[in-house]
Amino acid sequence: MSTLDIRGLGVTYRGAASPALAGVDLRIDSGEFVVALGASGCGKTTLLNCIAGFVDPTEGEVRLNGEPILGPGAERGVVFQKYALMPWLDVKLVLDVWSRTHKTVFFITHSVEEALFLATRLVLMTPGPGRIAEVHELPFAHEYLISRDARAVKSSPAFIEWRERLTRHLHETLREAA
Ligand SMILES: Nc1ncnc2c1ncn2[C@@H]1O[C@H](COP(=O)(O)OP(=O)(O)OP(=O)(O)O)[C@@H](O)[C@H]1O
Ligand SMILES: [Mg+2]
Repeated sequence: MSTLDIRGLGVTYRGAASPALAGVDLRIDSGEFVVALGASGCGKTTLLNCIAGFVDPTEGEVRLNGEPILGPGAERGVVFQKYALMPWLDVKLVLDVWSRTHKTVFFITHSVEEALFLATRLVLMTPGPGRIAEVHELPFAHEYLISRDARAVKSSPAFIEWRERLTRHLHETLREAA
C-alpha cells in the first residue's frame, strides 16, 4: 500500500503576482484513479508537476509513504498526452490497464465526460488561485469495468446528471473569470 499525502500545498511561480496553487490538501491511496478537472489556469499541471517532483512547493508539502517528494522517482511515472482529449478507445484502454495493474493514477483533463468515466475520485478545481473546490467518489469507472458497456454507462441518468452539473460548474467558473 502506498499513500500520497498533499498538505497545505501552494506554488507561486517566480515573478508571478498571485499563486498558481493555494491550500491544496489531498490524500491519494494506493489503487485510486484520481482525476483533476477544471478550467484552464486552475493549477492542474502545477499539481501534477508537484506530485511528479518537477516543481517544488513554495508552501506545504507532498509526501509519498511519509517521505517528502524531492524530485522525480522511479516509482512515479508521467505520461504526456499528445492531444487534449483521448479517443474513446484509449479512455477504455486506460481503465483496462489501470484495473489490471492496480496502479495509482492521477489524471488531468478539461473534459467532463472523460473525468466522469475514468475517475474513482474526482477533484474539481477552480482558478485564481488554483484550489480544490470539490472532491467526489464516482461509480462509473467500476460500472464500465463490470459491464464493458461504455454507451450504457454514459447514457445512464446518474451520469447525465453529473455531466450537466459539472458542465454548469465549469461554465460558471469561466464566466466569473471573464
Ligand atoms: N512556469 C510558469 N511560470 C509562471 N506562471 C505559470 C507557470 N506555469 C503555470 N503558470 C501559471 O500558473 C497558473 C496555473 O497554471 P497551470 O498550468 O498549472 O494550470 P492548468 O490547470 O494546467 O491549465 P491548462 O488547463 O491551461 O493546462 C496559471 O495562472 C498559469 O498562467
Ligand atoms: Mg495544464
